[in-house]
Amino acid sequence: MFRFAVLCLCASATWALPSSPAHSKVLPSKVPGARIINGNQAAEGQFPWQVALFLSSSESTWFCGGSIISEEWILTSGNCINGADSATIVSGSTDAYGGDVSDSSRLILHEDYDNDLLANNIGLIRLRTPLNLGGNTIAVSLSSEELGENVGITVSGWGLTSDDGTTISDSLNYVELVTISNTECKNYYGSILPEMVCADSPSSQVRSTCTGDSGGPVVINAGSNPVHVAIASFVSTEGCESGAPSGYTRTAVYRDWIQNHTGL
Ligand SMILES: *[C@@H]1O[C@H](CO)[C@@H](O)[C@H](O)[C@H]1NC(C)=O
Repeated sequence: MFRFAVLCLCASATWALPSSPAHSKVLPSKVPGARIINGNQAAEGQFPWQVALFLSSSESTWFCGGSIISEEWILTSGNCINGADSATIVSGSTDAYGGDVSDSSRLILHEDYDNDLLANNIGLIRLRTPLNLGGNTIAVSLSSEELGENVGITVSGWGLTSDDGTTISDSLNYVELVTISNTECKNYYGSILPEMVCADSPSSQVRSTCTGDSGGPVVINAGSNPVHVAIASFVSTEGCESGAPSGYTRTAVYRDWIQNHTGL
């Protein structure tokens, strides 16, 4: 068996990391999400496409990240949407509790989402009222091109900043990572589906997403010409600080799916 399992990166509503989180999964390979490990604090307006998602079902609530892709649509992961009845979206701020608040009118989980494999881990949220885009609230462009290996990417989120963490971060964080090949990632997780991509620290310092980062944006050219290339999906069950690569859903693979559902 492989040493690593896939862990879902959703944070529970109490912002505690439950020992068996309702929206975490333990596979023989991967788990959804985490907080950013060894990242930096984002400046106000640095990631204007980032939103905080407070999701709820009749039984629980949990926290995720997402990306503004138009005034009406938020792109996130399937594990964040799975089981949710509604979402509250906070935009335009590095404070997850301090921005503009919107309600969802529709949650769309990918038809072939697989909660065990984290296959097709993508979802969309339609907003009840369109956002006023501008300033610190801006839609990000979506990539249609295959994301290769050894590409520098930037991931942002309010997820935990250590495996000992119990609450989401006060302020938005980001970290710069480098993509690796799926073949290399299979060494850690046993199986990596074609729609997944893994990324690792460019140095010996451990860098990763963590619980609460799930659904959040991965971009290239963050400072100049940002393009959304992936969605935060999973980390190793060994923990965010284990040094295992973190896993993401490739945006380009779902470009047609997104267009079919949103017209974008
Ligand atoms: C998008 O819609 C077209 C036309 O209905 C369909 O042929 C295609 O399979 C859909 N693609 C996806 C990825 O949903």
